[in-house]
Amino acid sequence: PRAQVVLHPDFQVGEIDRRLFGSFVEHLGRAVYTGIYEPGHATADEHGFRRDVADLTRELGVSVVRYPGGNFVSNYVWEDGVGPRSERKPFIDLAWRTIEPNDIGTDEFLQWAEREGIEPMMAVNLGTRGVAAAAALVEYCNGEAGSRWADLRIANGRVKPYGVRLWCLGNEMDGPWQIGHKDAESYGRLAAEAGKAMKLVDPSIELVVCGSSSMQMDTFGSWERTVLEHTYDIVDHLSMHAYYEELDGDRASFLGSGTAMDRFIRRVVASADAVGAERRSDKQITISFDEWNVWYLASRFPGEKNLPLQRDAPRIIEDVYSGLDAVVVGDLLVTLLNHADRIPVACLAQLVNVIAPIMTEPGGASWRQPTFHPFAETARLARGAALDLRVTAPTTSTRQHGDVPIVTAAATWDQGADGDGDVALFLVNRSSEPVEVDIAHPGLTLALTGGVQLVADHEPAVPGPEHAARVIDRCLSSVAAPDAGQDGARTTLTLAPESWTA
Ligand code: AHR
Repeated sequence: PRAQVVLHPDFQVGEIDRRLFGSFVEHLGRAVYTGIYEPGHATADEHGFRRDVADLTRELGVSVVRYPGGNFVSNYVWEDGVGPRSERKPFIDLAWRTIEPNDIGTDEFLQWAEREGIEPMMAVNLGTRGVAAAAALVEYCNGEAGSRWADLRIANGRVKPYGVRLWCLGNEMDGPWQIGHKDAESYGRLAAEAGKAMKLVDPSIELVVCGSSSMQMDTFGSWERTVLEHTYDIVDHLSMHAYYEELDGDRASFLGSGTAMDRFIRRVVASADAVGAERRSDKQITISFDEWNVWYLASRFPGEKNLPLQRDAPRIIEDVYSGLDAVVVGDLLVTLLNHADRIPVACLAQLVNVIAPIMTEPGGASWRQPTFHPFAETARLARGAALDLRVTAPTTSTRQHGDVPIVTAAATWDQGADGDGDVALFLVNRSSEPVEVDIAHPGLTLALTGGVQLVADHEPAVPGPEHAARVIDRCLSSVAAPDAGQDGARTTLTLAPESWTA
């Protein structure tokens, strides 16, 4: 098969916001304890945070980290996680049925993020709590001396306000599994009031209101409409969450996940714009895609209700990834780049141990999963503006998503100070045959450099660093700069079967 890609630096989707390369740390399983934080570990810094994990986080290129949940936030009392450690009490986190020791809370997380040069994205509890607790947390984080909660922060040892810019108004409030789950009317009203109070504390913050937990929710669409009817004037972003997995050996549908994500984005944008149109509003609501990844949720996760009550950072949702999963992650990033105009924030869920690109052993090693690589390469190479490409490719029919193109692509253009800019091109071949891609780039003479390529495997994923290293060895390789067929304005590339190439 053959495909064509046309790119021109004048045709752009929009500037890429660096916050597109975010991730997520929830009090869930071993994301915090023995994930980012493990006092006594050989690499632990003076605050007890693992240096090896922080170094991998930096290498991953993560810009923003969302915290403290996820489902966890909907029963979290943030006040119990600040102040002297000796006075903090453990509680039963009902979301993941785990005893939370409260050793790490708002201050420890925000100071870790600050030391690592990561922008924090905080979530408030709109499950079991409400307006007052949300406004108080904004004041605790961002307030100047001279008021109750800001002074408490100062008494706890932190004088300078943290200046947290991004705030989530709860988490997945449409989901029956959520503690304090609400219907769209009740959530919309509460989010509007909480958001109003939070912005009265600090008008410079940006608010994310909960969209649907997935496109499969029965209330999808009507949820977005009702919630935005209540919150349109107060919020900035609408959240999207999506997880993809290979079900019943249906590889073609799994490889087509990027198209499913693309359709989901278009539908959510249409729903948000419909509310704006009815209000004759010039304001545009953007998307915070604050949970996305491959997660074997239906096939491997027993469900929250079936988790035994546990303590000491249990191993929950530690999915092990294959080369195939990494190709799909690369494809999902292509989709996000192609919507850079409407998606300023996105978070790979999650960062460490829980459906994560980084894994650790308590007291032991840390390592990269195969999915680490497409994320790190995309975050490193995608600079400047996302280009509005024309991609022509044959389609293939899939059980779950109908017809999907066999080739997807995204490109970015970074003009550079001297006009001698950089183009980065990301290509996915979803078919089981090699595909010749003819890339036309009129107006650009490219001095081509090489890149990297990931090919999907057929091996079952096995936990542990040795296996991860073997998968990466087998699936990830560098590709030489193409020379054949290059005539200044045209380049030809051959994409390996089931591969992602940068
Ligand atoms: O990322 C894991 C969980 O997935 C989050 O806690 C929740 O928001 C979503 O259902």
